[in-house]
Amino acid sequence: MRIDIITLMPALLDGPFAHSIVKRAQERGLAEVHVHDLRNYGLGKHKQVDDTQFGGGAGMVMMIEPIERIINELKSKNEYDEVIFMTPDGEQFKQSIANNLSLKTNLILLCGHYKGIDERIRTQFITKEVSIGDYVLSGGELAAAVVTDAVIRLIPGVLNDETSALSDSFQDDLLAPPVYTRPAEYRGWTVPEVLLSGNFKAIDKWRQEQAESRTKSRRPDIWNKKDSSEG
Ligand code: ADE
Repeated sequence: MRIDIITLMPALLDGPFAHSIVKRAQERGLAEVHVHDLRNYGLGKHKQVDDTQFGGGAGMVMMIEPIERIINELKSKNEYDEVIFMTPDGEQFKQSIANNLSLKTNLILLCGHYKGIDERIRTQFITKEVSIGDYVLSGGELAAAVVTDAVIRLIPGVLNDETSALSDSFQDDLLAPPVYTRPAEYRGWTVPEVLLSGNFKAIDKWRQEQAESRTKSRRPDIWNKKDSSEG
């Protein structure tokens, strides 16, 4: 999978892909993340990328032409499944969207800034709009990093233990059960007996019950939806 991220703040994305699982995925040749500085596609001597908005009002708006230039350049080299705009008024990102995107081959993520982007970019070039939550970030970069991370870890072969992505919270509309490691007792704080029992059937049952009770109490919204879709 290849992910191209278009941004005016490439430095914000220096860290997230240079470590841990996303780094390993790239080293294994399972994913490529390319960060592009939109400024390089700006207009004129000053590499202009934004302008005041028609009709008046505060804040600069990102212009069409630089974005069209870079999208066309990318499209001349690769075929893209989606051109995704990161925006707080997009579709709420969740595990099911990450699962779906992890099956794609090439994605473009466009990060917004300033007051917004010329609406015609959205209508002409964007195929999907994604928000990572109901709050406004200074730009789409952190959101793009979130989406990239959530998607890349799902690519087969990226995680060492193939089952571990499947047992993530949300993967089956359940939060993950609690986990423990050594020591079995610390300051008198103990580990649930069943986990030390070696009885894997009982352990599975306990984990399932914990996942269900956690989901019920912490995320009744997910639990109730699950109930009605299964019932
Ligand atoms: N850009 C600014 N805020 C955002 C959000 N919540 N999700 C995605 N992109 C954004």
